[in-house]
Amino acid sequence: MNKITIVGAGRVGESTAQILAREELCRELMLLDICDGVPQGVALDIQESAALLRFDTRVNGDTNPAAMADSDLVIITAGIPRKPGMSRSDVLDTNLTIIDEIIDNMLRYAPNAMLLMVTNPVDVLTWHAWQRTGWPRQRVFGQSGALDTARMATFIALETGYSIKDISPLVLGGHGDAMVPMTRFTDIAGINIEHFLDSKTIEGIVERTRKGGGEILNLKKSSSAYDSPAAAIAAMVDAISHNRRRIMPCISILDGEYDLHDMAMGVPAVLDETGLIDIIELNLTEQERADFQRSADMVRADINRLSLVA
Ligand code: 2OP
Repeated sequence: MNKITIVGAGRVGESTAQILAREELCRELMLLDICDGVPQGVALDIQESAALLRFDTRVNGDTNPAAMADSDLVIITAGIPRKPGMSRSDVLDTNLTIIDEIIDNMLRYAPNAMLLMVTNPVDVLTWHAWQRTGWPRQRVFGQSGALDTARMATFIALETGYSIKDISPLVLGGHGDAMVPMTRFTDIAGINIEHFLDSKTIEGIVERTRKGGGEILNLKKSSSAYDSPAAAIAAMVDAISHNRRRIMPCISILDGEYDLHDMAMGVPAVLDETGLIDIIELNLTEQERADFQRSADMVRADINRLSLVA
């Protein structure tokens, strides 16, 4: 890609910019934020690491939304993070106002870009961004499954002691405590995890994955996670930038898939240079379907609430 804009030069934005620049996933990286000096300072700091980390990516910062012009991809990380005790939905009203302004700037300055939503509550804001832009769903998607599966892989590696490189989990559903870690589709080197772990341990991993974001927030108190979210965003950008056709769980706009319409949820999808080109539908067991529906109901409740706010 030629140009990527990250909106929000907070912790997630900065960590993401560091990885994208270092991995040379675009030629030009633009950091946008409303706090004058912050995006410029963050960009310059990262740019000054280029000689040591050996990358050619040009990193710039700005407060003027016009600076996002000609972006191939816009990543939205701006918004207030939750505090300990808050759910992701608790920040919806505030973040909706912030997101609306950004979307309107995208429509004006980067009307042909793809949009990767990161701000929470990410499922409902992805859906809202899709509605407000009127863009095809291929170009509007969100990050959550890459992070949630990375967390699940971590906990499996910690329990088994095996290399995380061979661990391949799958997490479906909304990015909330009702997300659905899919143990039936989770393996180590092709061997289902039930071969290695007893059901009580697996249940513990499922619960820890569901509450993974909260665990970090409760430990740090003054900040949500940002290193692993940034790595998750970078994995999606890498798939797009290198036209890999990777299958990853992404927040996708559903139009009949999984019997859901007019909805955004985490499902396995294919990413290439044009965006989210395909959604993979799995045959779910009765229990999996019930869990998935429970998660969908929570996202739907936020979407309904958003209709009242708007
Ligand atoms: C997380 O799961 C902040 O939603 C983000 O850590």
